[in-house]
Amino acid sequence: MLPTSRNRPQQRPARSWSFSEIMDFSDPKRKPRYLSKIIMAALLTAMCVVMLTQPPCHRRPPSVFSTHEPGVTHVLVTGGAGYIGSHAALRLLKDSFRVTIVVNRIFAENAFDAVMHFAAVAYVGESTLEPLRYYHNITANTLVVLEAMAAHNVRTLIYSSTCATYGEPEKMPITEETPQLPINPYGKAKKMAEDIILDFSKSKKSDMAVMILRYFNVIGSDPEGRLGEAPRPELREHGRISGACFDAALGIIPGLKVKGTDYETPDGTCVRDYIDVTDLVDAHVKALNKAERGRVGIYNVGTGKGRSVKEFVEACKKATGVDIKVDYFSRRPGDYAEVYSDPAKINRELNWTAQHTDLHQSLSVAWTWQKAHRSGYEPPAAVIL
Ligand SMILES: NC(=O)c1ccc[n+]([C@@H]2O[C@H](COP(=O)([O-])OP(=O)(O)OC[C@H]3O[C@@H](n4cnc5c(N)ncnc54)[C@H](O)[C@@H]3O)[C@@H](O)[C@H]2O)c1
Ligand SMILES: *[C@@H]1O[C@H](CO)[C@@H](O)[C@H](O)[C@H]1NC(C)=O
Ligand SMILES: *[C@@H]1O[C@H](CO)[C@@H](O)[C@H](O)[C@H]1NC(C)=O
Repeated sequence: MLPTSRNRPQQRPARSWSFSEIMDFSDPKRKPRYLSKIIMAALLTAMCVVMLTQPPCHRRPPSVFSTHEPGVTHVLVTGGAGYIGSHAALRLLKDSFRVTIVVNRIFAENAFDAVMHFAAVAYVGESTLEPLRYYHNITANTLVVLEAMAAHNVRTLIYSSTCATYGEPEKMPITEETPQLPINPYGKAKKMAEDIILDFSKSKKSDMAVMILRYFNVIGSDPEGRLGEAPRPELREHGRISGACFDAALGIIPGLKVKGTDYETPDGTCVRDYIDVTDLVDAHVKALNKAERGRVGIYNVGTGKGRSVKEFVEACKKATGVDIKVDYFSRRPGDYAEVYSDPAKINRELNWTAQHTDLHQSLSVAWTWQKAHRSGYEPPAAVIL
């Protein structure tokens, strides 16, 4: 179900190496040393076979990853190659956590103390086109992660949830008590995953420490420019507003289409709560440090302040220095006028508040990375050998 990739890269070099030895030995120009070559090749092949058939622990010295160490928290970060998961892994390493990225079966080889489960598919529009893929990769895979945690006695979970689980609430701001009535497969799949986690944590035997974080709209990137947001090209059309702004500034798309100018908001465009990824991963670290056995914490992670699409576009123009072409259209079905969080609970209980609340600043940081990585994490064409 979840791909595992840890063992493959370790075995591949050994195999290709023995293959090239055999190629070398069949070189006709070297006939005089034919016999010694055969013996060499046989020896090397035998060595390879021995190496490949030994259980992994005999092949390499026991790793620090496979034993629990007092004072060191070893965190499994699923979805650690994604936008938010990669930022979280970087921050955990900076704070001297032990980090493993990747998913599943890895539980057998590692002594984890906690899991940050980011791995998911995460585009509302795409979820309406491919609902089964969403229920599979969000709900079913969270179940698999929980089962693996239970089987291997890993009891701390930090879960990535979303404000999409609230649907279209009548009252703003959204608190953790706001009823959850999701309106698309993405929000429903996340709500179901939350329910599974909560039911499991309620069973006395599990003794889980759970933190569910419901993020609002995530923007920005690493202030040191090491990471950025790089969705697969086919996701651009379902993309988030920041991605669309940068694509327009880069000339990848002709301009921005703002849908709806007659909402009951100060300037008529939709209002959302934009949270910087640096603040978001800080909330994860605080949640991890405060996680307690037998306790569930549910927190909204937002700034508490709504910004209109017009404000966002202006900030993006200023950050990129590009006079992005903006066209206005009528409302898109399913969009609600105003969504913003009440972050009082996370402030009170985890001592967390958003620090990077200047849209222009967050977008400038993200733009620096975008400009330098026009094709995301793909190597630039000139470097491909
Ligand atoms: N970006 C946002 O605005 C936002 C808002 C609310 C919640 N979230 C949640 O945050 C989490 C991370 O989102 P993101 O924006 O970094 O998305 P992303 O798409 O950049 O990263 C998700 C990662 O999960 C991986 N993944 C998915 N299914 C997998 C599987 N079966 N096995 C292994 N890996 C798998 C993907 O390959 C990807 O690397 C998600 O759970 C998402 O629902 C994101
Ligand atoms: C998600 O689930 C589908 C099965 O519905 C699977 O084919 C796909 O590879 C999974 N992973 C991602 C990242 O979509
Ligand atoms: C809360 O956070 C602030 C700023 O990060 C810090 O100065 C303060 O000491 C923290 N308070 C508590 C009670 O931990």
